Parts: sequence; C-alpha cells; structure tokens
Amino acid sequence: PRKNLTTSNHLRHVESMAHLPSGAGRITRLNALILGEGLASEEDDLVFPSEDFSSQSHVSSPQKYLEMYQRSVHDPSGFWSDIASEFYWREKWGQQVYHENFDVRKGKIKIEWFKGGMTNICYNCLDRNIESGKGDKTAIYWEGNEPGLDSSMTYNQLLARVCQLANYLKDVGVHKGDAVVIYLPMLMELPIAMLACARIGAIHSVVFAGFSAESLAQRIIDCRPKVVITCNAVRRGSKIIYLKEIVDSALLESAQKGIVTDVCLTYENDSAMKKEMTKWTKGRDIWWQDVILKYPVTCDVEWVDAEDPLFLLYTSGSTGKPKGVLHTTGGYMVYTATTFKYAFDYKPTDIYWCTADCGWITGHSYVTYGPLLNGATVVVFEGAPNYPDVGRCWDIVDKYKVSIFYTAPTLSWSSGYANNKHSLALYKSLSPIEHVSRYSRKSLRVLGSVGEPINPSAWRWFFNVIGDARCPISDTWWQTETGGFMITPLPGAWPQKPGSATFPFFGVQPVIVDEKGVEIEGECSGYLCVKSSWPGAFRTLHGDHERYETTYFSAFPGYYFSGDGCSRDKDGYYWLTGRVDDVINVSGHRIGTAEVESALVSHPQCAEAAVVGVEHEVKGQGIYAFVTLVEGVPYSDDLRKNLVMVVRNQIGAFAAPDKIHWAPGLPKTRSGKIMRRILRKIASRQLDELGDTSTLADPTVVDQLIALADC
Ligand code: WT7
Repeated sequence: PRKNLTTSNHLRHVESMAHLPSGAGRITRLNALILGEGLASEEDDLVFPSEDFSSQSHVSSPQKYLEMYQRSVHDPSGFWSDIASEFYWREKWGQQVYHENFDVRKGKIKIEWFKGGMTNICYNCLDRNIESGKGDKTAIYWEGNEPGLDSSMTYNQLLARVCQLANYLKDVGVHKGDAVVIYLPMLMELPIAMLACARIGAIHSVVFAGFSAESLAQRIIDCRPKVVITCNAVRRGSKIIYLKEIVDSALLESAQKGIVTDVCLTYENDSAMKKEMTKWTKGRDIWWQDVILKYPVTCDVEWVDAEDPLFLLYTSGSTGKPKGVLHTTGGYMVYTATTFKYAFDYKPTDIYWCTADCGWITGHSYVTYGPLLNGATVVVFEGAPNYPDVGRCWDIVDKYKVSIFYTAPTLSWSSGYANNKHSLALYKSLSPIEHVSRYSRKSLRVLGSVGEPINPSAWRWFFNVIGDARCPISDTWWQTETGGFMITPLPGAWPQKPGSATFPFFGVQPVIVDEKGVEIEGECSGYLCVKSSWPGAFRTLHGDHERYETTYFSAFPGYYFSGDGCSRDKDGYYWLTGRVDDVINVSGHRIGTAEVESALVSHPQCAEAAVVGVEHEVKGQGIYAFVTLVEGVPYSDDLRKNLVMVVRNQIGAFAAPDKIHWAPGLPKTRSGKIMRRILRKIASRQLDELGDTSTLADPTVVDQLIALADC
C-alpha cells in the first residue's frame, strides 16, 4: 500500500506555472554571455524553452506533466503497466504489478516490479527493434581515440555480434545466473558483451577499466565470475594502458584467495598494441577474434523473470568495501527506457551521445540499455575529451550530427573550458573559445548533465556557449542505486533554473527530511529521501541485504535515503547540494573516504589516515588526506609520492589524493571518533570557522595541523 500523498509543494507550483507565457527563446534576466551578474538570486532566474521546442516535445507543458505525474503516483500499477506493455513479454506479469516494503520497521526491505513476467532485455533492445523495421538503422557509431579511426554497426549487425558472443559464453559453460566480469574500455565490444550476457541470463559486472588490479580482484572475489572479458591494451589520449596485465595480476590475486576464473576472453585491440606482445596463460586466455567468429549469428534468448538479476555494479560507500549494487531485469528495462525517452525528449531521428564510460551506471542505463531500448543511434567514444585538443567533443558532435549530448560538468572543466566553482572570469582566461566556435554544433537539440551539481555559471556556459542558447539542459539527478533519472527536467515542459535539477520524474516521490527524519514541507533544505519504490530501484547489495537495509533504509525509517543534501525553493524546484556522507565526488566518480584511508594505512609507514573532500576548481571535489606516520619516520616528499602511489595502485589513478597533509595527530573525540568537520575546515583553510574544539581529547592537535598546513 502507498503512503498517503500530500499535495507536495512542487505540484502546486507546476500547477501555477501552467499559465506562464512561453515566448520563443525567452530568457529572463539572462543575457547570453553575461553570466549571472546582477541577478537578485539564482532562484529567480528562469530559462524558458522556445515555443517551437515545447510544442513538439513529448511533454509540452506543465499541465501535461502534472497530469502524467499525478497518475504515476496515484496509480503506479496502471501507469507503469501501460508503459511496460510496449515491450515484449514472453509471459505477462502476475496480478500484482509491484510489491514493496520500504519500511525497515515493518520487516525486510523488498521491492518487486512485474514479478512473474518473463522477458529479456537484450531481445527488447535488438530483436524487437529489428522486427519493427529498424534492422538497417545504425545502432552504434564508434569513434576511436585517434581522430579518423571509427566504425559503425546497424541493429542487424549488432544482434549478430551479440549472438556470436552469447553462443561462445554458453559454450564455455556460462549459465543463467552466472556472473561475467567485463573489464573493457569504450570499444563496441563493451556494450556487445553486456548484451550477450543479458541474452543468456548471465549477470554482468562491468568494472571501469581505470580501476587497479587490486580493485578488480576485490570485485572478482566478491562475484566469482566464470569468465572475465578484457582486451590487451587501450590508448587513452597519448597514453597506452595495458589492461591485460592488470587483469593478469587481478586473476593471480583472486586465485590465491581461492577464486579461480576459468576463462579470460581477450579482445585484440590492435590499434593499441599487437597481440604478440601480450603475456598469455595457456588454457585460460583466449583471443576473442580467434573464437567468436566461428559461432552462429543467431542465438536463442533465455527468458528470465522480471525480478531475475541483470547486473551487478560496484560502487563506493562509507566503508572500505565496495557495494555490489544489484539491478534486476523488468523494472530496470521499463525505467531506463522511459526516463531516456522523456528526459531527453528522444525522437527516432535523434543521434545521441553520452560521454560516460560503461564502467559506471550512466554507461549502463544511458549508453547501452535506455537508448537501445528506444531504438536510438548511439555514439560510443573511446577517447578523452581533450585529445588531440579540447575541441574534440564538438568535432564529434559535428561529425555525427549529434542532437542529444549528455555529459558531466567535469567534461567541460577537464578540457579547460569552464569552471564549475567560480564564474566566467576563470574560464575566460583559460578557455580557448575558438575550440568551440570553430565547430557548428547546429545539430544539437538537447543537452544533458550528470554526476555532480552543475553550478549556475557552468550551466550558463553550457547553455549559451555550447548550445547557442537554443538547447534545454537536462540536469539529471540520480545514482547507481536508482538505476535511472529521479529528478530531472523534461525539456519543453517548464522553465529551467540554471543549477536546479527541477522536478521529480514520473513515479518518483522525493521528500526532504530533517536530522530526525521528519519530512519538511515547502521551501526548505535537508536530506534527500524517496518515499516509495520506482521500477528502476536496486533490489539489494550482492550478498549483503543487511548492509542494503542499514545503509539506505535505516537512517530515516520509512524512506530510501540517498546520501545527498538538497533544498527546495519557493517555487518547488529541487537543488542538489552534494553528498552528506563520507563519499567524495571527484569528477563525477564516487569515492569512499574509507577506501582511500585503508589504502593509505596499508603503507607500512602510515599509522593512520583521515580523508576529506575539498572544493577543487577542475574536479568539483578533490581528495585531501591527513596522514599520521609511524613514530620516528620523517616527513619527505618521496614518502608523499609513495603514499599517492599506494592509492593509485589499490584503487585507481582517479582516486589519487590531491594533497597529503602531515598530521602528528588527528582531532578525535574522547571516544576516539575522528572529527571530520574540523578536518574539512582545515583542508579548505576556513580556519576561523573551526567551531567548538573543546570536545576534543587533545585540542592542541588542531594547532599542530594548522602549523603543518603548507609543509
Ligand atoms: C551521486 C551518485 C548517476 C550518475 C552518475 C553518478 C551525485 C549525480 C547529480 C546531479 C547533483 C548529482 C549525487 C549522487 N549526482 N547526478 N545532476 N546533480 N549531484 O552516479 O556514482 O552513483 O553517484 O552523484 O551526489 O548521490 P554515482
């Protein structure tokens, strides 16, 4: 049973907006390139979609949204089963469309959607689209790291490739429910491998190819795959990364712990490295190209229950051990397809490019499944946004006539354009604007942002400079756990506010609670929770349902707690303010402070470590580590480098601390708890805001830390 619905503030506001005029391209108080100066407040800055855009969009007015939203929360069964019926089901789901217990006080947390329904997500992505005439449509445009290196694949061709791999996997003994680890860069073979697993009911676990051997081993040990799929090497920008060597050490390490992987299927990525140079373990390692082509290009589908697992994706939490987020088939399928369609206002003529890597949830839901379920044409890009120069993205946009471009705010920073924290001034000084203006970008229609809060000045830069003030921006708030978008603009439906993710998606009931878990109404800020389940929600953490319940459902009983802070303004718009737990968001990559700490203390000369996030001009947040050395060990720059190395090796280069701050001692309470609040202030040099230090076991520690701040 659903909780009673209160008429939430956002609905009342959207209702009142239904009568707003929407002049073509009207932008209140927003003058292209005069970014943000002179505004009374960010909340008052409304950016309207053009009439043209609105009239052709799936959701063309606040009113229309409101009607659909109301139905989605008052009658979730009806709303979602209508949508689900557009997919192919071998057998329809049972009487009850969904079943949930969202309240830890009432027993085990349980979420089920379309239970009893038999389907297959690969079939729905490929065969179903081919049957409806899209066989010759381009499914994937692949753009290599080196400009000029590219290829493409139609839906027919993609299905054939997926089937060959699926047949091979079956042949080497992968059955329904078995895990397969995929450690690949953004080659076409990555989505192919995911789809092949889905076709035979195997559970894929993609590990981002930037993770170190130890992180990979940890994941292999946790999910015990029959097969690991990788490639020999990859070029990223001007660097070569030898992926197979990383896999070799991970397999060695996991085998030492008793987890033996039978097969390591290795794709020869000859643009990066010749196969003769690759180290080989006979009997275990197989070249993809040597075997796959021999298999038939058709493969029967394994029909699975809607609640059968589709994939595991590991994500960081507040302890050292990554969490295996489990998504199931039916609800995830319906949810990713629907969110993709509405949040990007997807039309069959669109060319869609999401810059995320399939190693993260964004690449699962919005490179692979969501777009392909819609029969879309997807650009898959292997390289880096700033290679050979920072104009690469716009070059790709023009080359493929990309109409929907979805990225993270950091993309613009890492290419040295915009700065997400300050305003125009900084990026103007850094920004080679000609790298943008020398490309047409005329094909762009909708822009998307994800991964971290996009601040208003970066938003305006994206809107004005990249989109020529023509394209609505979908600032999509969601998480690995949520499977798909939760709070997101629907372009065309209502005016946007730069920096706000706007309103909830259909079926999502966000609430903001205070420290006591009491729901706050109206204009407020607090902890962002969700009141009831949605089809794309994760169902458990692999092998640890208890951790699932304590991490997400126990902090505020009755709700799913996201770990994010959020405020709602007077107009009902939601503004995400960042993590409130011990998770750092570095360039959109989620890193648990505890993971970095445990890597640091594994160094023999490190006695203790405490890690906090600090504002970082380029990465959003940077990693700042306080390190206490073993007694008698002197501070040195070499040691600093070694400590950073340890983190790179154990987690991955993206988790390397930006700063190591020597700490003779750490500020702790008398019960031994590290007071991170104080460390955060020291790290950001807000020394006059240290607050109450009297509860510290040893208050002099703070002075020592301040004294060592710039050593
Ligand atoms: C965390 C989830 C899900 C996509 C990639 C990251 C932050 C994500 C936004 C946004 C503000 C955002 C949150 C969230 N986040 N999107 N549009 N505005 N913050 O997935 O690794 O599971 O991280 O990313 O803090 O909790 P993830």
